[in-house]
Amino acid sequence: MSIKKAVLPVAGFGTRFLPATKAIPKEMLPIIDKPLIEYAVEEAVSAGIEEIIFITSHTKIAIENHFDSNFELEEKLLNSGKDDFIPLINPEKFKNIRFTYVRQKSQRGLGDAIAHASHLINDSAFAVLLADDLIFSEKSCLKQLIDIHKNTSSSVIGINEVPESDVSKYGVIKAAEDSELKIIDIIEKPDISDAPSNLAVVGRYILESDIFNYLKRVEEDSSNEIQLTDAIKLMLYDKDVFGCKYIGTKFDCGTKKGFVAATLYKGLEDEQIKQEINKIIGKA
Ligand code: UTP
Repeated sequence: MSIKKAVLPVAGFGTRFLPATKAIPKEMLPIIDKPLIEYAVEEAVSAGIEEIIFITSHTKIAIENHFDSNFELEEKLLNSGKDDFIPLINPEKFKNIRFTYVRQKSQRGLGDAIAHASHLINDSAFAVLLADDLIFSEKSCLKQLIDIHKNTSSSVIGINEVPESDVSKYGVIKAAEDSELKIIDIIEKPDISDAPSNLAVVGRYILESDIFNYLKRVEEDSSNEIQLTDAIKLMLYDKDVFGCKYIGTKFDCGTKKGFVAATLYKGLEDEQIKQEINKIIGKA
């Protein structure tokens, strides 16, 4: 069965970007002129997703507004000869996409956020995208995962290689020694000495719907959070889970370094500003 629904958890506090994220959702911070969340939705839509389920909170209303119409602005643009902007605020590619919002009342972690979508998923496999992992690729990263899911009918996790010094920042997998990257273990933010590899989990997943049963069995960690990684670890006892070393360029926009790097990357692709940006970088 094809994957038609994607869950986008956006209920986190975004503490690493305070004070910017005091009143504005982290996911609404722009890379040049487009908010992070829109890049993630575009990636999902280009992979064939038809319903986007945001797991949100009371401080994230700007996300709901962003994917809704703004008739007043449209009329203003139309009447002032600025109609070129209309397709930007009302992209044709989102016309037939259903946007659904579920509130996560208290921030009890990524696993808990995803569990909030269970009543909307039923028995089918679904996608999860974390918008702060921004990935530029010719073929949508999510589509690359979906293609592996088609062949394996199992859950699939986006994976990339990171320098050994960075393994403690990510979920890290141990894979069976074959070309298909069958996962045999997964550890959340291991010490460098305990890391089973330098293959880190990226915020792209295709999950079989029984993940919800495993999430129910996960206990809160020391930060009172339910970790998705722990549910996947339980799943590994019973089910195959595969990694997908996608082809693409990823920026971790949940960090200042990644956010600035993504801005430069996109800025250097933008004909209108790339010369100026090159000058600025040259001066640094
Ligand atoms: P992060 O670990 O990046 O947390 O969450 P965060 O709140 O976004 O940012 P920091 O660490 O405080 O700076 C990973 C993803 O899980 C979502 C976040 O919105 C982000 O997309 N999340 C996290 C939730 O939806 N709910 C939670 O309870 C926690």
